[in-house]
Amino acid sequence: MTQQAPVLVFDSGVGGITVAREIRRLMPELPLVYAADDAAFPYGAWDGDALARHCVATVTDLVRLHRPQAVVIACNTASTLVLPPLRQALDIPVVGTVPAIKPAAERTRSGLVSVLATPGTVSRDYTFDLIRRFAPDIAITLVGSKRLAALAEDKLSGRPLDMQALAAEAAACFVSRDGRRTDVVVLACTHFPLLADELAAAAPWPVEWLDPSPAIARRLRDVIADRPPDLPDPATPPVPDKLVATSGADLSRVLGYGLLLRERAPGTA
Ligand code: DGL
Repeated sequence: MTQQAPVLVFDSGVGGITVAREIRRLMPELPLVYAADDAAFPYGAWDGDALARHCVATVTDLVRLHRPQAVVIACNTASTLVLPPLRQALDIPVVGTVPAIKPAAERTRSGLVSVLATPGTVSRDYTFDLIRRFAPDIAITLVGSKRLAALAEDKLSGRPLDMQALAAEAAACFVSRDGRRTDVVVLACTHFPLLADELAAAAPWPVEWLDPSPAIARRLRDVIADRPPDLPDPATPPVPDKLVATSGADLSRVLGYGLLLRERAPGTA
């Protein structure tokens, strides 16, 4: 009797839900282990070397424990640092989430693009390298937000959302120059699509908000398809999803995580 091995989706908190829900949409039967490293949140404020060591150790432990068939690092702040050492440490595929600079460069008409991310992501060589390679002729404004990820955590925990703080954090994304205006904003932190409606409401003019989650789900599907099949026996009940918090908190009591579980077919969560 074979059961389909789960995929581990890893983030510092609720942000990875934006990726997990796209995976769920594309592969509804795939069991997920969602791990929130909430004991270490927010990653955006960590020193790069310390964060890299911490993430490799934490993800390696989670893989040992849950035996996934693949890992999705559903966090830009971690992915822009840890993908090479993690791939070296693990013998399963690792899919990362990195700023969607290339699609943004293809979509902008004004040539003014902003990248909204954590302070960590906008200071990484990885991000600078993406800009050099894929958007050399685009005027990119890097906006490192200290508070938006925490505001997304507030929203998904049912706490009141400080709209004034949200508008202030996103304001620097909107650039007007020589009669042109920013027309694409890359959501380069997985927490931010959870605030899509609020960000759009706070925007001084409409822009395209680029969320890479559907592309990450497709990448995972391709990567899994390349592996030897590990298909569920139709007679075997599906493996239930799991929620893991490094703090030991019960995540099923947090609204956003509960919704993720409920999106699965009844009886499987
Ligand atoms: N969700 C994370 C990202 O994509 C980071 C949030 C944080 O922990 O600061 O960058």
